[in-house]
Amino acid sequence: MTPTLHPSQAPPAGSPGAAAPDLAAAQALYQRRAAHYDVELSVFEPLRRQAVSALALQPGETVLDLGCGTGLSLPLLAQAVGPRGKVLGVEPCPQMMALARQRVDALQLRQVALLESEAAQAPLALAPLADAALFHFTHDVLQQPEALAHVLAHLKPGARVVACGLQWAPWWAWGCNAWVLGAALYSTTTLARLHAPWQLLADALPGLQVQPCWFGTVFMAQGQVPS
Ligand SMILES: C[S@@+](CC[C@H](N)C(=O)[O-])C[C@H]1O[C@@H](n2cnc3c(N)ncnc32)[C@H](O)[C@@H]1O
Repeated sequence: MTPTLHPSQAPPAGSPGAAAPDLAAAQALYQRRAAHYDVELSVFEPLRRQAVSALALQPGETVLDLGCGTGLSLPLLAQAVGPRGKVLGVEPCPQMMALARQRVDALQLRQVALLESEAAQAPLALAPLADAALFHFTHDVLQQPEALAHVLAHLKPGARVVACGLQWAPWWAWGCNAWVLGAALYSTTTLARLHAPWQLLADALPGLQVQPCWFGTVFMAQGQVPS
């Protein structure tokens, strides 16, 4: 069964969390950040490794990296699927994509293909149906029902999905939430559903498991496409 999501699952227009992700704003944001992005993200490396490990990739498998940015996850994904596997990175910001390309070329990651596109429009049919998908700190993508529906339609039944990223900590952890607010304003174009960024994914993937990390400021979600 192919999981489906509908635009009606977006917050109602006019509600506080209604602002939809803005692709042009995201491209401008990451154009500014591209040159120093890898340094800024170095603190999140343990989470990246945890997320990739949770995908439980096997040699020969195909994996999607949605919003792959400068490609920091690509070497880990390529190593996990091996030379006979395939990694498809999708990224709409040309400056981030250029750095991802440099990384792939420098490391000669021949099993990696890159698509400069937003997730909702990515020509994913170029690759076989994937065995797994990674959404690593891609709040904007997770808040787009059409992007999720498009990606999930290109996964095999039983495919593994891992998402992680920022979320609001409990209300009383105001110091933590000040950090979340700053980080979210710096890296996303909408604060919609920051209390449950994984909600649309959970609607599509019954049984999605969500674990809080980092004092509740980050979530790690794991699930499978229904068979
Ligand atoms: C915080 S970065 C994460 C990059 C990478 N996943 C990582 O872990 O380093 C968020 C990325 O999502 C990308 N992005 C934003 N909107 C997107 C969309 N609609 N489709 C795909 N990627 C998008 C941004 O351009 C940016 O590279």
